Amino acid sequence: MSWLSKIRDFLTRRETVISGGGPKAIEKQLAMGKLTARQRITAILDPDSFYEYDLFVEHRCADFGMDKKALAGDGVVTGTGTIMGYPVCIFAQDFTVAGGSLGLAHARKITKIMDHAMKLGIPLIGINDSGGARIQEGVNSLAGYGEIFYRNTLASGVIPQISVILGPCAGGAVYSPALTDFVFVVEGISKMFITGPEVIKTVLGEEISMEDLGGARVQTEISGNAHFYADSELECFEQIKKLVTFIPWNNRKKADPYPPKPPKPGHDVEKIIPSEPNRPYDVRDVVRAVCDDSDFFEVQKHWAANIVVGFARMHGQTIGVVANQPLVLAGVLDVDSSDKAARFIRFCDAFNIPLVTFVDLPGYLPGVDQEHAGVIRHGAKVLYSYSEATVPKITVILRKAYGGGYIAMCSRHLGADFVFAWPSAEIAVMGPEGAANIIFRAEIQGAPDPNAMRREKVAEYTEKFANPYIAAANGHIDAVILPAETRDFLIHAMEISAQKAESRPSKKHGVPPF
Ligand code: HXC
Repeated sequence: MSWLSKIRDFLTRRETVISGGGPKAIEKQLAMGKLTARQRITAILDPDSFYEYDLFVEHRCADFGMDKKALAGDGVVTGTGTIMGYPVCIFAQDFTVAGGSLGLAHARKITKIMDHAMKLGIPLIGINDSGGARIQEGVNSLAGYGEIFYRNTLASGVIPQISVILGPCAGGAVYSPALTDFVFVVEGISKMFITGPEVIKTVLGEEISMEDLGGARVQTEISGNAHFYADSELECFEQIKKLVTFIPWNNRKKADPYPPKPPKPGHDVEKIIPSEPNRPYDVRDVVRAVCDDSDFFEVQKHWAANIVVGFARMHGQTIGVVANQPLVLAGVLDVDSSDKAARFIRFCDAFNIPLVTFVDLPGYLPGVDQEHAGVIRHGAKVLYSYSEATVPKITVILRKAYGGGYIAMCSRHLGADFVFAWPSAEIAVMGPEGAANIIFRAEIQGAPDPNAMRREKVAEYTEKFANPYIAAANGHIDAVILPAETRDFLIHAMEISAQKAESRPSKKHGVPPF
């Protein structure tokens, strides 16, 4: 073959593989409102930055007529590129090729790009759109999944791992995204479940649609499996780009600093907390009033909304924000909010992101449901994750900090480096109402007007204990500060702890309560 013929032959081969499952399958994919694997990669990465590898990988399966079936790229596209200038490894399953089903060669392409990401110390992005284990390949498909899960686990805490669910992600396949740090879903497109509607109908006799079983809303609002929800694939890709700017490439680096910006005008930190102690407010207003450009990028916004977690910047540096949300269940810690906070805290600690905690909660949620659902075990995760974290930890007590909630929300006792409290802070074993009812029970019951006596005793307790000064007198907090001073104190605390190095007892690993 002449040189020119070889080039032509190569171009034809490449064109064939790049056309995936062919025009009909692509048409079907687009008709479902989905982009193709390569369109998705191109839309996520910087223009012209994608370099594809393993284009000509082929499966070795001869069963069920597979020896006569060439599958373009074995149904997955892999490569490297950049997002906003940050290098990433990426793979996208191609549903137009055998439903993106995962055979051994398909899995090996994925594990190879995962190994690259680990060696190069750069984030991994995986786009899932697949019918699951390739049925014809039997146990070899299962082997492939196992090899992916193994690497997801080894990569955890070493490089950020991002999963994007853009089609079916069913059966055991869901466990790769579940092992990664962030899961993105899109309305009407993402479908994630262990057992599908048909199995549920057969085994349980219940009818349910894929959407109601494991659609985007279910995974973001009910199960908490997904972290980001979008109405369209393009909106989802913008979210991914934004996330990448907040996090470092790997666990040996810090997130890149950005040019510092003051909060936007109109965010007045003095005017957020209502004067009545039981009136709710949106804690995100506090975050926006103190962070750079009032830009708060919330994670798991739609699930366990009684706690708020997400990324922001303080004088150009990324911070991880954890804040009780008085708007929902008065900001209590419960089973789900404990899980949400603990996982986020561990991500920030693994990736050198300082933690800033805003506290306003009456404690853990009481009730039979919570006790039976394991609020003890789940709540312990918050204590564990804050205690083991060695990144700079800065806490601001805004209002209520009662009981176990006070301790759990990154108190000095769990190793906070700086604890500040606003004058509105109430740091006590429990709220004044509950406390007065218990310690003054005899006086209240014996009084001619028990209600008047209760009011008097609540006022007495509030005056004495519902303030930050006893904690300040004991050195449990470092400073009582004005709300308007919060940003300056936070920036200074971040700068002064930039070189913080704290060690922990030597061990193979801890045994957290998960
Ligand atoms: C082989 C598959 C496949 C699979 C789909 N295809 N899933 N081939 N193995 N798992 C093929 C179809 O045969 C079809 O090929 C093409 O992909 C497109 O599929 P359609 O069914 O036409 O698409 P659609 O109607 O959109 O339905 C999508 C679907 C459905 C809901 C995902 O295909 C489906 O239910 N697939 C099977 C899902 C499943 O049970 N997977 C195994 C789960 S067990 P042609 O040639 O006709 O175009 C599992 C265990 C993992 O994953 C355990 C890991 C620990």
